[in-house]
Amino acid sequence: MSGLDRVGKGRVIFTLLLFLQCFIVLTGGIVRITGSGLGCPTWPECAPGSFTPSPYQAESPLHAWIEFANRLLTFLLGFVALAAVIYAIAFIPLKRVRALAGLQLFGIIAQAILGGITVLTGLHPSTVVAHLLVSILLIAGALSLRQRVYGAIPGASQPTLLTARLLKALVTVGFTVVVMGSIVTGTGPHSGDSDSSRLTFDLRTVAWLHADIVIFFIGLLIATLIAIHLGETGATRTTLLQKIYWVIALSLGQGAIGYLQWFTGVPEFLVAFHLIGAVWVWLSLWNLYITGSVTSSPSGSKGAQYRVE
Ligand code: HEM
Repeated sequence: MSGLDRVGKGRVIFTLLLFLQCFIVLTGGIVRITGSGLGCPTWPECAPGSFTPSPYQAESPLHAWIEFANRLLTFLLGFVALAAVIYAIAFIPLKRVRALAGLQLFGIIAQAILGGITVLTGLHPSTVVAHLLVSILLIAGALSLRQRVYGAIPGASQPTLLTARLLKALVTVGFTVVVMGSIVTGTGPHSGDSDSSRLTFDLRTVAWLHADIVIFFIGLLIATLIAIHLGETGATRTTLLQKIYWVIALSLGQGAIGYLQWFTGVPEFLVAFHLIGAVWVWLSLWNLYITGSVTSSPSGSKGAQYRVE
């Protein structure tokens, strides 16, 4: 018994949850890029006295509806997360799955409150940055949850200690890239709307620091690729190679968009592509990490096991 015997077709909820966690990052980006963050100037109401956009409010209807649609998506996400928790309790007797589903629900409620604080502080850049970073963590949790429910992890991969350590370093540096990217956004023209305050860093310095960490990240990816080539064998080698090639390809593409947007004055449509790219790189990186770090012993007992050469 793997604990997944009664999972059934309803497990698609977990894929939907992952998709929506990624999609809301894009819609949140559209809110910022179109300067619609205060389209609903208050929270939890959209306009004073109305939970939906009001024809009498001062803000433009387009901005109000863009911000309101983003709020509606949070409700949908919360609803899907609740369904995932109920499904896990009913059909999946695995503590880790139930805990991850519960964390998703908790995280979405926290995001709704943080979104409210963002509006009530007039789109303060530190809350805008925090909002994105919490979403990035929720995406990692949703992917781990989805892969567990689909039986993709824990797998039979048993990387060497060196590869396992490199994967951990990659995720740490990858997350730092994302943190630095969101600081660049919080400093630059697309944080909040045109009137909201900005982080007080020098934009050029933080953008180059962001790009420098990306270069280090790509170097680390190549080192990990070599370690996998030289140190791994069998199914572990094949699986890890397949996944790391995805991370490398996506990171190079994302880096190219990053430089292009910087040298063309950060036009909105490239910023949107860069945001989609960031989510994609993060998904591929986390997928590589959980494949290589969650291992099971040949006897089936749980717990991390590394092959010691
Ligand atoms: C693996 C590669 C990269 C990743 C994962 C990444 C990730 C990110 C993230 C998460 C953001 C915040 C997005 C937002 O809040 O809208 C960002 C912003 C930004 N990134 Fe990157 N980035 C990468 C490469 C680069 C490179 C090489 C450059 C070149 C300078 C660059 C330039 C920028 C700029 C200028 C912004 C701010 C855009 C704005 O004004 O909204 N990025 N990046």
